[in-house]
This record gives sequence, structure tokens and C-alpha cells, in this order.
Amino acid sequence: MTIDEQLVAAAREAAAEAYAPYSDFAVGAALLTADGLVYTGANVENASFGLTMCAERAAVVKAVSEGQRDFAKLAIFAASAEPPLPCGACLQVLAEFGPDVEIIASNDTATIVTTLSELLPRPFHIEQDACGD
Ligand code: THU
Repeated sequence: MTIDEQLVAAAREAAAEAYAPYSDFAVGAALLTADGLVYTGANVENASFGLTMCAERAAVVKAVSEGQRDFAKLAIFAASAEPPLPCGACLQVLAEFGPDVEIIASNDTATIVTTLSELLPRPFHIEQDACGD
């Protein structure tokens, strides 16, 4: 198996842990760090719908809260009609840590390989000088 296939398999496995009683749309993500570790995530929905956490952000939060900052690849899996590309919120959260992340989106039949900078070419960034002090 290639590393991309391994990541998609990890994302597929993670999707099995999704908590998605409202949408019934299970998503899994697998984030590969620059030093070769893999952090997975699944979507976690909430009765207050806006509090729902996407699979991709769940993976990023797990990785960053364990000290990781440098990400090489993110695989996303859902058994959807089209391979599930990350939503805008997840792209912005990923962009916080740099533009060079390969994105591998897969369903059971097709895979799209692209990059964060292609999906979100001009993310929002704060100029540190504008933050006072
Ligand atoms: N979802 C993700 O996990 N990732 C995305 O990039 C888009 C959407 C989840 C959120 C919600 O639980 C379900 O998919 C339907 O929107």
C-alpha cells in the first residue's frame, strides 16, 4: 500500500467512529505530520448544529494539542457520491499551519488528490504587527 492508500484506510477506519446522528453522514480524516505520525479524526455532531466538529478539524486539534505543527498530508474519507473535499472552515484551520498540505479525498470509488493552497489560495492571516504591543 502507498502512504496515500494507508492514509485513506486510516480515514475510512476513523469514519466508523463518527458521531453523526443528525446528518447520518460519517466522515473520517487522517493527518500525516512531517515526522511521519498519523492523527485521525471523525465528525462529532451536536444538537446545537453549529457546534458540530468536522473530521478534519478533529484531527488537526488532536495533532496540534500534542505539539504537532507541521503537516504533510490529509486524507478524508466518506461513503459519499463524490470524494469529500474539506469545508471552508477546515481549510482555514489547516492554513493556520502552512500552505503545503496535500489533500487526498476519497469515497469508495474515486480519489481526488489536490493541495490546500489550490483549495484555499488566499487564506486569512493576521499581520502580527496589527495586534498591538
Ligand atoms: N463534515 C466533515 O466532517 N467535514 C467536512 O469537511 C464537511 C462536513 C461533517 C459535518 C457534519 O457532521 C456532516 O459532515 C454533514 O455536514
